[in-house]
Amino acid sequence: MEQIVENLRIRLLTPEDKERVHTFFRRLGEEGTHFFNRNCGNEKVAYAFLRGELPNHIFWAAVDDTPDGEEIAGIVFLWNKNTKIPWLGIGITEKWKGKHLGRRLMTTAKEWAESVHAGGIMLTTDQKNLRGQGLYEHMGYQRLGIHHDGEFLYLLALPNENVK
Ligand SMILES: CC(C)(COP(=O)(O)OP(=O)(O)OC[C@H]1O[C@@H](n2cnc3c(N)ncnc32)[C@H](O)[C@@H]1OP(=O)(O)O)[C@@H](O)C(=O)NCCC(=O)NCCS
Repeated sequence: MEQIVENLRIRLLTPEDKERVHTFFRRLGEEGTHFFNRNCGNEKVAYAFLRGELPNHIFWAAVDDTPDGEEIAGIVFLWNKNTKIPWLGIGITEKWKGKHLGRRLMTTAKEWAESVHAGGIMLTTDQKNLRGQGLYEHMGYQRLGIHHDGEFLYLLALPNENVK
């Protein structure tokens, strides 16, 4: 079946998604696992969120309606969502990478941040993650320098009039 990003639905992740989330992390591929799920870090965070343990996080999934049911093609999340500058994480399965799904997911997170009058969104990414950097810069994020963990630090500043 043709893979058309526009046909994917973006919705909030719910506790019923546990199996789908498990499958999603298995489908990240080598690059995705390295950049998005090193030491299963983001996977553990996702399960904790689904158990209701992380009320300060918000997760969205891009969902593909297949004949076998819903499959998760990508995930974007914000944490410290109640602060002025939440942090963002994003991952897309191998099959759906390189089709600009990242733009749709990043736009979803940005629109939510704007709706709660956040001042911006921060993220870090591996210095070798050129695809991620291409996406973030396309979306208007500015590279501020190197975070203390050695990754590049990016900020999307949202217009001042939106700040509480
Ligand atoms: C990083 C990620 C979110 C990007 O989303 P995407 O929808 O795949 O993004 P795209 O393929 O459209 O690439 C975005 C931009 O990166 C650049 N790019 C794409 N492939 C690239 C490559 N192999 N090398 C260098 N730059 C690349 C291009 O500028 C592209 O924009 P363009 O096609 O409009 O010119 C996604 O690929 C992903 O989940 N990767 C694995 C996990 C990951 O790295 N997560 C982020 C951790 S911080």
